[in-house]
Amino acid sequence: MKYTKHVLLLLLIIIPFLSRADEGMWLPQLLGKLNEPRMKSLGMKIRAEDIYSINRGSLKDAVVSFGGFCTGEIISSKGLLLTNHHCGFDAVQNHSSLENNYIRDGFWAKDYASELINKGLFVTFIVRIDDVSKAALNGVSAQMPEADRQRLIDQNMNEIKKNAKKESAQDAFVRGFFEGNQYYLFITETFRDVRLVGAPPAAIGNFGKDTDNWVWPRHTGDFSMFRIYASKDNKPAEYAADNVPYTPKKSLSVSLDGVAENDFTMVFGFPGKTTEYLYSAAVEQIRTINDPAKIAIRDKALNVIDHYMRKDETIKIQYAAKYASIENAYKKWQGEVLGLTRTDGVAKKKLYEAEFQKRVLANAAWKEKYGNLVNDLDAAYTAISLYALARDYYTEITAKIELNTIAMQLNALTTAFEKNGEKGFNERLKISQPAISSLLEEFSPAVDKSVFEVMAEMYVKDQQKEYVSPVLLQWLDASDDSYSSLAGKLYSQSGLFTKASLDEIFSKPPAEAVVSINAFDALKVFRDMQSTYQKSVQVSLNKLQDSINKLQRTYMQAQMEVMKDKKFYPDANGTLRVTFGKVQGYTARDAVKYEYFTDMEGLMEKYKPGDYEFDVPEKLRTLYKNKDYGRYGKNGVMPVCFIATNHTTGGNSGSPVLDGYGNLIGLNFDRVWEGTMSDINYDASICRNIMVDIRYVLFIVDKFAGATRLVEEMKIVYPKQSKIKK
Ligand code: ARG
Ligand code: ASP
Repeated sequence: MKYTKHVLLLLLIIIPFLSRADEGMWLPQLLGKLNEPRMKSLGMKIRAEDIYSINRGSLKDAVVSFGGFCTGEIISSKGLLLTNHHCGFDAVQNHSSLENNYIRDGFWAKDYASELINKGLFVTFIVRIDDVSKAALNGVSAQMPEADRQRLIDQNMNEIKKNAKKESAQDAFVRGFFEGNQYYLFITETFRDVRLVGAPPAAIGNFGKDTDNWVWPRHTGDFSMFRIYASKDNKPAEYAADNVPYTPKKSLSVSLDGVAENDFTMVFGFPGKTTEYLYSAAVEQIRTINDPAKIAIRDKALNVIDHYMRKDETIKIQYAAKYASIENAYKKWQGEVLGLTRTDGVAKKKLYEAEFQKRVLANAAWKEKYGNLVNDLDAAYTAISLYALARDYYTEITAKIELNTIAMQLNALTTAFEKNGEKGFNERLKISQPAISSLLEEFSPAVDKSVFEVMAEMYVKDQQKEYVSPVLLQWLDASDDSYSSLAGKLYSQSGLFTKASLDEIFSKPPAEAVVSINAFDALKVFRDMQSTYQKSVQVSLNKLQDSINKLQRTYMQAQMEVMKDKKFYPDANGTLRVTFGKVQGYTARDAVKYEYFTDMEGLMEKYKPGDYEFDVPEKLRTLYKNKDYGRYGKNGVMPVCFIATNHTTGGNSGSPVLDGYGNLIGLNFDRVWEGTMSDINYDASICRNIMVDIRYVLFIVDKFAGATRLVEEMKIVYPKQSKIKK
C-alpha cells in the first residue's frame, strides 16, 4: 500500500514533465540556440546543424513550399517529390477526363517521358534566412501612427531586398515575425517545371472523404508524387521539353523501421497561420461569437449544396471540390470551439495574463511601459466585437454566393473603365474574363439561387439594420418579403450565367460593354451590399484593428521581456518551420482513449462496397486477403496512419515526418478534431497531427500500383535494425 502510494506520488511528479507540452513552430536557423537540448532529450540523434545549415547540404534543402499552399519533400537524387493527395489533387483533376479518369483510377507514369506537365505549379526552396530586424525597423518609433509605420517598414524592406546578396536565379522576400517585432529575409529558389509522377485512386488518397476529415482513427493514403525538372545546368527554369530531372542538394532517406509509441518525430514545413498570442478576450469572442456565426452560415450553405448534389450527378461532380473546401473549415471550427471549451483555454489564458500583470506591476519600468496594456486590450476587443462579427457575416455570406463573385469581376471592369478608359477596361478583361469563365465551368444557377435565398435571409435577419444594404431591402420589399421571389428576380437575367452571352458583351467596344454590364440588376444589389459594408463596418473596423495590432505588438514585446522563463516561437506566417514531439495516443473525452496507429485491418472494417467515401479498390482487398505486404508490413500487420504531438497547421500538409536520424517515416496531412484549436491554444493533452506511415505509401506505390521504379530511386534505410545488429 505504502509502496503504491510512493510510486503514485513519483508518477504525479514525473508525468507532467514527461508529457511536457512541446508546443511550437520553430525557426530552423534558431534550433541550435533554442531547442537542441530538448530535441536530443526526446530522442533526436542528429545536430541542429544537420537540419539547417547554410554552408553545406542540410535537411532544409530537401523541403519545399509546394505551390505556395502545401509542403513537399525531395525523396530521390533525381528530384522526386512527395506531397499529399489533396495538395496535388488539382493537377490530377486537370489531367483527368472520362477516358483517363486519374481521380478514380490513379495515375502512374511508367517513365520520365510520361510524367505530366502542370502549368502554373511551382515549388520553392529556402536557400538562406537572415535576421534583418534592425534594418527593417530603422527609423520606426513607438508613437508613429500605424499607417506611417507600415509605409516606412515597407520602404526598408524594399531596400533590404534590393541589397540582398543572392544569385541571379534566386529571389528574396522579407517577412515580419512576433507581430512585427522582428523581421527576417528569405533567399529562395523557385522551380516552375514540376511534373506529375503518380497518385493513387481517390478511394485510397482520399479514403473516408468528408466523414473522416479531421478525424482519428484515420485510414487515408493521402499522398501523390511529382518530379522537379531543371535546366541542363540544374538551375530553375520554365517548362521546356529538354529540361532534365533536378539533382537536389539533399534528398531524404526513407526508413522502413516503423514507429513505436513515444518515438521522437519532427515535422518540417510551411505552416500558414496561427494566433497563439491572442489576448483572452479575443479568444473568448472567437469561441462564443465568431466561430458559431461562421459555422451557422456554412451549415445552411452546405445543406443546400448537399441537397442538389444528392439528386444530380453533374452537380455532384461540379460541386465536390467546393463542398469539400467549405466543409473543411466548417468542421475545423467546430473542433476548435469544442477543444477551447473542453480544455478551458480562455481560463488558462487569463491565468497567464494575471501572472504577467503581477510581474509588470512589481517592476517600476515595466509598470510605466506596460501597466495599462491588459486594460487597453480588454477595451479594444470589446470595442471591435460587433464590427468583427459584421465582418465575418459579410465575408462568409458573400463568399458563398457565386453570383456575387461574378458581380465583383464585372464591377472591376466598370471601375477600370471609369478610371482608365478603354485601356483600363481591356487590361482588367485579361483577369476578369478567364476568372468568370473558369467559375462558370463548375456552376449551377439553380444551386446558387438557392444558396442566395438562405444567405440573404441570414444577412437581413441576423444583423443590425445599419449593416444591411438598403437597396437589397427595397428589392425585398418589392418582392413581398419573399426571399425566393427576390432570388427569382436577381437570377432571372440568365445572360450572367453563360460564357457565350458574357463573351458577347466583352467583345463590344468598352463603352457599350459597360452599359450592358450596368444593366444587370444583381450588380446593383451587390454593389450596394459592398458599399454599405465599407461605410458602416470597414471604416471603423480598420481603425480599431490598427489600434489592436499596435497593442498586440506591444503585448508580444512585453511578454518576451517579462515572461523570461517561457520560450517564445513566432506565429505561423507561411515560412519554413520545424516542430517536434512524440508519437502518442490521446484521451479524447471521458473513457475514450485513442491508440497511436491504425492498420489495414481497421481500413477493411470501414469498407463499404460501392460507397462514395468508403469503397476499397479490389486490388487492395486482394493484397489484404493474402497479407501480401512485402517488406512494408510486419508480422501480418500493414500500418496505415499514426499520430504524434507535433504542432502543425494548414500548410503543413505534405510535410515530411522525420525520425531522430532525419529519415522520412511519414507524411503529415491532418489533425485530430478535438485538437484543431491548436491554431489558437495548443494543448498537448488533445492536440495531435495525423500522418500517413511511409511504409503504407511505399506499399501502395510498389505492391498496389507496381510503380517499383520509383521505390528503386529512393534510399531505403533501417536505422533501428542496423543498430541492433551492431
Ligand atoms: N483537413 C485537412 C486540411 O485541412 C485535409 C483537407 C482535405 N481533405 C478533405 N477531405 N477535405 O486541410
Ligand atoms: N490538412 C491541413 C493542410 O492541408 C493540415 C492541417 O490543418 O493540419 O495543410
